[in-house]
Amino acid sequence: MTDTPETQPFDKAQGESFEPVIIGFTCNWCSYRAADMAGTARMKYAPNVRLIRLMCSGRLDPTFVLKAFAGGADAVLISGCHPGDCHYINQNYKMLRRFHLLKRVLQQMGIEPERLKLLWASAAEGAIFAEEINKFVEQVRPLGPLNWKPGNGAHVEAPVHEEVPA
Ligand code: FES
Repeated sequence: MTDTPETQPFDKAQGESFEPVIIGFTCNWCSYRAADMAGTARMKYAPNVRLIRLMCSGRLDPTFVLKAFAGGADAVLISGCHPGDCHYINQNYKMLRRFHLLKRVLQQMGIEPERLKLLWASAAEGAIFAEEINKFVEQVRPLGPLNWKPGNGAHVEAPVHEEVPA
């Protein structure tokens, strides 16, 4: 049994109507507030994203992303404060390293790396947040459903650890 997604032919023409499910991990201090601002300012953006608020993007364990995919997400967004603006000094740089690591791991698992997106967004960037969500949905649509579910051999148990240089 492998961890690769069940491959099903996907007619790209169906991509027009496919509505991807996207899990978005956001930082409490910046990107979650950007999403909040977009909402309160009534900026319209695709309703495909389910946001999960973390205190900091540095809290993101890579297994969160794998579990999101295993749980049925078609794509995952990771969003945090701009480099240099993290409220926990430099944790978003650690997240950035995990993001690049995840891209490689996903590729090895047969999952298109385009299904994972990183977005820096400050609390004042509601419009950018909304625009980037729309772009991401359009990027994922042609890829079709992922179908990487536990029944397909997805198996996420142990945390993925990275070496973080001092
Ligand atoms: Fe926002 Fe760290 S507090 S990324």
